[in-house]
Amino acid sequence: MTHPNTLLTLSLAPLAALACTSSDFDEDFALGAAVAGFQVDMGCPTLAPEVCEDRNSDWYAFVTSTVTQGRSSNFLSEDPVSLSPGFYELYEADLERMQAMGLTHFRFSVEWSRIFPSSTVGITEHAALKAIASQQGLDYYRALLGAMKARNIKPLVTLHHYTMPQWMHDAVGCNVDLNGCSPRGWLEPHMVDEIAKYAGFVARELGPEVDSWVTQNEPFAVLLPGYLQPSETRTNPPSTSLRFEEARTVLFAMIEAHAAMSDAIKANDSADADGDGQAAEVGLVYNVTPIHPQDPERALDQRAARNIDYLFNGLFLDAILLGVLDDDLDGEGQTQARLQNKTDFLGVNYYTRAVLSGENDSLFPDFSPLATFDPLSLQQGAVYPQGMYEVLMKVHEEYPGVPMVVSENGVDVGLYPQTDRFLVEHMQQMARAMKDGADVRGYYYWSLIDNYEWNHGLNMRFGMFEVDVQDPMKPRTARPIVDVYQQIIEARGITSSLKAQFDLP
Ligand code: FCB
Repeated sequence: MTHPNTLLTLSLAPLAALACTSSDFDEDFALGAAVAGFQVDMGCPTLAPEVCEDRNSDWYAFVTSTVTQGRSSNFLSEDPVSLSPGFYELYEADLERMQAMGLTHFRFSVEWSRIFPSSTVGITEHAALKAIASQQGLDYYRALLGAMKARNIKPLVTLHHYTMPQWMHDAVGCNVDLNGCSPRGWLEPHMVDEIAKYAGFVARELGPEVDSWVTQNEPFAVLLPGYLQPSETRTNPPSTSLRFEEARTVLFAMIEAHAAMSDAIKANDSADADGDGQAAEVGLVYNVTPIHPQDPERALDQRAARNIDYLFNGLFLDAILLGVLDDDLDGEGQTQARLQNKTDFLGVNYYTRAVLSGENDSLFPDFSPLATFDPLSLQQGAVYPQGMYEVLMKVHEEYPGVPMVVSENGVDVGLYPQTDRFLVEHMQQMARAMKDGADVRGYYYWSLIDNYEWNHGLNMRFGMFEVDVQDPMKPRTARPIVDVYQQIIEARGITSSLKAQFDLP
């Protein structure tokens, strides 16, 4: 007779064997793709433009106004938004594509201005907010979430992916005159309350279908190209330069807003969408960037790299992950109870590293004594897969116990056409970090489809699926990365044949 323990051992054996194989990503690991509303929604084939286009956002005004287009310091492509991929109408077919690949997770953003095209100032009750919310907006997100559920695709919902309503931010007016404009977006004292109100409202309305929320996407991509240094690489409304005082105000507002949004989400989403016992987990998406000294032997460059690593990465992460706030940006923060325990996971966006040389003194002492770098020496944009390992290990070591997802990773095909290789190399580095202890729970490729890349318009293409933007039907064609990602999903890891194909260890 077989001993019951033997049976147990035998029945566990296949599982154990599985755990020891080369499978890099277990069954719970989220394999997905990411988009953001402003970048994909517009350009519908048949829907009327006024239905398809969200004309109430600050970014819409920023890219379509002849005033902002006429100012070269905004680096705008001037591409019409009608060239966008029309996801607002074509989402069912795009979700089909995801399902066919085996993708099970999708990150998208709810657009604040699609929910509240008019001001919520002075309105607090949910019923009163609902009375002024856009029914079309709510219906659309419900339909999108329903279509995802029908295909077993789980949502990761970003609430603030750069855009905000025009009743909160006059992007064009502030671009021309930051002192005299109104409303001033992140500079408005009521901004934190309004964005938290919006977060709570959406959490209550869509919470029955959503468990994973992101408060903000890449806050420094608002701060740097918005208030310090707009450049060809990226501008963000209001696109103003060296506004140190305003940059600090925005920085602290974004930190407070994360905490307030987190509280509002938790207070309003008590519905467990997927039955795992957790109704709402809240994260923030940050582009953690490896910072390297230009000359590794030069003390000034080493110090600059340390300082910039703190100013760019540590400062914000300390605030949202530890509740430590450094109000004079000198490297010493204080714990603030009101900011603690607001973040359940960190979304890590990884694209590239930064290499810089150092200076003796701070170049912007009014901003921070730690600004000891030469901004003109900044090199960015290189494809550097090892950086994926570096950033995941950095978070793992400096903020132990914080779960992560890679919430964006991808490359412009114009810069680096071999996106299939890019995917394999970066996922391999992610798997290496996981083996070394990093708690990474998912990966979202940026992006599912070619999209309107902010100030670059259609001049940068990140899609796994190419979109023929000149054809009003916006047909999609799979790039080679689709087949490679599918192989990784099927094997739940980087197979030896993929390693051989790309000549990887
Ligand atoms: C990130 C943004 C995303 C997209 C990619 C290319 O910084 O979060 O919207 O623009 O870059």
